[in-house]
Amino acid sequence: MTASSSLPPETVFDWLDTEAAKRAEAGLTRRLRPRPAQQDELDLAGNDYLGLARDKRVAGAAAAAALRWGAGSTGSRLVTGSTELHAELEHELARFCGAQAALVFSSGFAANLGAVTALSGAESAIVSDKYVHASLIEGCRLSRADVAAVAHATPDAVRHALSTRRKPRALVVTESVFSVDGDLAPIEELAGICREHGAALLIDDAHGFGVLGEGGRGAVHTAGLSAAPDVVTTLTLSKALGAQGGAVVGPRRVIRHLVETARSFIFDTALAPASAAAALTALSVLKSEPGLPEKATNHAVDLSMQLKAAGLHTTLPEAAVTSVRAPSPEAAVSWAEACAEHGIRVACFRPPSVPDGVSRLRLTARADLTESDVERAVKVIAETAPPGATA
Ligand SMILES: Cc1ncc(COP(=O)(O)O)c(C=O)c1O
Repeated sequence: MTASSSLPPETVFDWLDTEAAKRAEAGLTRRLRPRPAQQDELDLAGNDYLGLARDKRVAGAAAAAALRWGAGSTGSRLVTGSTELHAELEHELARFCGAQAALVFSSGFAANLGAVTALSGAESAIVSDKYVHASLIEGCRLSRADVAAVAHATPDAVRHALSTRRKPRALVVTESVFSVDGDLAPIEELAGICREHGAALLIDDAHGFGVLGEGGRGAVHTAGLSAAPDVVTTLTLSKALGAQGGAVVGPRRVIRHLVETARSFIFDTALAPASAAAALTALSVLKSEPGLPEKATNHAVDLSMQLKAAGLHTTLPEAAVTSVRAPSPEAAVSWAEACAEHGIRVACFRPPSVPDGVSRLRLTARADLTESDVERAVKVIAETAPPGATA
């Protein structure tokens, strides 16, 4: 058959079934599981680290904003989509993080895409940790830069890639807390290496913001880098803040550049006012209850230690994420299903979401868990563990 030969229309998408069959064969089928508004399941799969998504103050602020400003933002940020709420949120985010300025995007994914592409380009090299989130990887792919994906959390590999680059400018890209195992990037060392080599550092603090550091100011603040002239932080408003949306926080001239050049900012309808109001209120809750983050991180450590004591391969969490190794993708799926049948919702991570190809259950802790929640979860996860999951 030649490339131009015609196909009956009903067969044009036959290749999708072939691909789906291959995924099923490899145990990689993905299915949506819509959840009801009220459920009895104990949630260790979401990212609502501080339990704010259903907080009445936060959800109430979203409802009030929808009534006042409308259900949608009506346009892109440069046209009609910027409300006073967006401006206030940006001001508060920058102040909370100790940075010069912030810019709100419609999601953390869009913030990463926009920041990576706008801060690189054909004249730039990008050196990225090879375990970074898909949104950063897509930014690298779209950037037209020379991209080197280097060994995970290995400063020497970053130094080598920077010193052998062919492009004058360079951007180093990492997560602070890696989203699969919950381990921490060597941020301070990376910042030092960037300075030796005249490179900018972009840190995705999606899992650190609201969880780590003084009052939840995040990993970049803890490293003393939030006001640095050469460091840019990306955030999501959809995890610890329990809302929706993303942000870039950093030097004022970086933010100005993003407003004028980041395509995922310019050509995207602005974040809905309800989400902006929810994030603003969640931020003020966090300021008034600065002990919340530590509750989440303590529960994550308890989960991890107790699972380890039960003989499972867990990671020691640096923030509120931990993971448990599964022997295969199929075993991970049935393990997660068995947990769900016993009322514990855990996330199942399989390739391509796991960069090292090892399937895992990913567990996220929340500030509003109780000790008995943790004990119940450990009991169910340990009792439903498949053969090969124990050490
Ligand atoms: C590390 C990391 N960065 C970025 C994102 C994207 O954020 P959002 O869900 O707000 O698009 C996520 C979300 O899963 C994430 O885990």
